[in-house]
Amino acid sequence: MASTTTNLCVIFSLILAVTCVTGIRYQPNWESIDSRPLPAWYDESKIGIFIHWGVFSVPSLLTEWFWHQWITEKNPTAIKFMHDNYKPDWTYQDFAKEFTAELFNPDEWASIFNASGARYIVLTSKHHEGFTNWPSKYSFSWNSMDVGPNRDLVGSLADSIRKNTNIKFGLYHSLFEWYNPLYLQDKSNNFKTNDFVMFKTMPELYEIVNKYKPEVIWSDGDWEAQDVYWNSTKFLAWLYNDSPVKDTVVTNDRWGKGIACHHGGYFTCSDRYNPGVLQKRKWENAMTIDRRSWGFRRDAEISDILSMEELIGTLAETVSCGGNILINVGPTHDGRIVPIFQERLLSLGKWLDVNGEAIYSTVPWHAQNDTEAKHVWYTAKKSVNGGYDVYAIVLQWPNPGDYHLAIPTPMKKTKVHLLGYPNPIKYKQTSPKGITLTVPTIPFNQMPCDYAWVFKMENLA
Ligand SMILES: *[C@@H]1O[C@H](CO)[C@@H](O)[C@H](O)[C@H]1NC(C)=O
Ligand SMILES: *[C@@H]1O[C@H](CO)[C@@H](O)[C@H](O)[C@H]1NC(C)=O
Ligand SMILES: *[C@@H]1O[C@H](CO)[C@@H](O)[C@H](O)[C@H]1NC(C)=O
Repeated sequence: MASTTTNLCVIFSLILAVTCVTGIRYQPNWESIDSRPLPAWYDESKIGIFIHWGVFSVPSLLTEWFWHQWITEKNPTAIKFMHDNYKPDWTYQDFAKEFTAELFNPDEWASIFNASGARYIVLTSKHHEGFTNWPSKYSFSWNSMDVGPNRDLVGSLADSIRKNTNIKFGLYHSLFEWYNPLYLQDKSNNFKTNDFVMFKTMPELYEIVNKYKPEVIWSDGDWEAQDVYWNSTKFLAWLYNDSPVKDTVVTNDRWGKGIACHHGGYFTCSDRYNPGVLQKRKWENAMTIDRRSWGFRRDAEISDILSMEELIGTLAETVSCGGNILINVGPTHDGRIVPIFQERLLSLGKWLDVNGEAIYSTVPWHAQNDTEAKHVWYTAKKSVNGGYDVYAIVLQWPNPGDYHLAIPTPMKKTKVHLLGYPNPIKYKQTSPKGITLTVPTIPFNQMPCDYAWVFKMENLA
């Protein structure tokens, strides 16, 4: 994999001494691409915000797949909606001029995302409809500068995020476009030609990386064609070797048919992937607060919105099993993040203010959940004394009194705290194994938070 580097290092050892230490050249094959260590910031961050925004935010009915649902799937709801509300000659392209974004205030978004406790965001630069949220040279008249917002949405959000916060800025990008004639031509040739990739996908990817320096490339729309058609490894080798973000960028695994869950950066496998058991490779649970759509839906009902208990439960399970969580919100066509999404994000931030140390920069412990106590997820940090500080994230408040956890074994120096609660928690070692905590009776107004409480056990064996 790095053999050419080694030879060069011998010849030019003086000049390249520094480069050789860190300067592995990745090759355009999966073995080499997969060997790149994930930049540490990603695993430490644990929480990101996903933002699906595009022309689909205008009809904002069904899902972000509205165009496909209407034209290809002939979804009755889509057909009736178009028939009842639009002239017969209305095309999907006509929605673009109503993608107005006049209330889009990127500083406000930055402030909401920051208050949520998320450490990175991923914005759709282009979804399967092909509309680019930046003034792409390769998407004439179908981009956010030429039609609709008349603004560089990607650039404005990147600027605000970087100016106001320490959040990392990432971009989602769809490799394919449902109805792009060049793509359809390649597809009709069984992908033996790759004009679409040569003249659209690749130029666009290089353009967004060079222009916006995203630290996440969240690839999607890969599944109809092989990775060789997409030239994925060639792009990734460039991204890792020579791009302006080569040292910090992370990518996912959606780089061609059969590649997801097998190759790339971190694994996303399928949407809302949440295996519930520890995974070997770093992975991400990309999920939605509106459980039925990534794009904004005007017809969402309150029961479609994840409760805070569900959101924190999913977060705890994900992080415990070694994953990051990427929490999606869909902004409106005029640029708002509606209050129900704001409320969930701000509540998450408040929960993290108390319990963040059980999430950020944690590592999976040897057990992810308990064998006896239900609704408990463990995370851990190496303690200064060589053992582990273990966090038991308890999704249901236990009754006051004895609370038995079967996996943790205390040592003499073990101390137990409830995060956000001033007094230490008493405990005894139980035989043959485990720990029994004495859960105090706490008045409601003194509870550290409203859901998912964290018992921190310092210095476990
Ligand atoms: C971002 O969040 C952090 C942590 O909650 C806070 O300390 C900081 O003031 C926030 N920054 C902005 C610009 O809101
Ligand atoms: C894609 O790969 C093919 C075959 O390796 C190559 O001929 C072509 O130049 C590549 N295109 C791009 C845009 O990288
Ligand atoms: C622990 O997690 C596994 C895998 O998700 C599950 O099958 C098991 O029931 C859980 N144990 C308890 C006690 O909830």
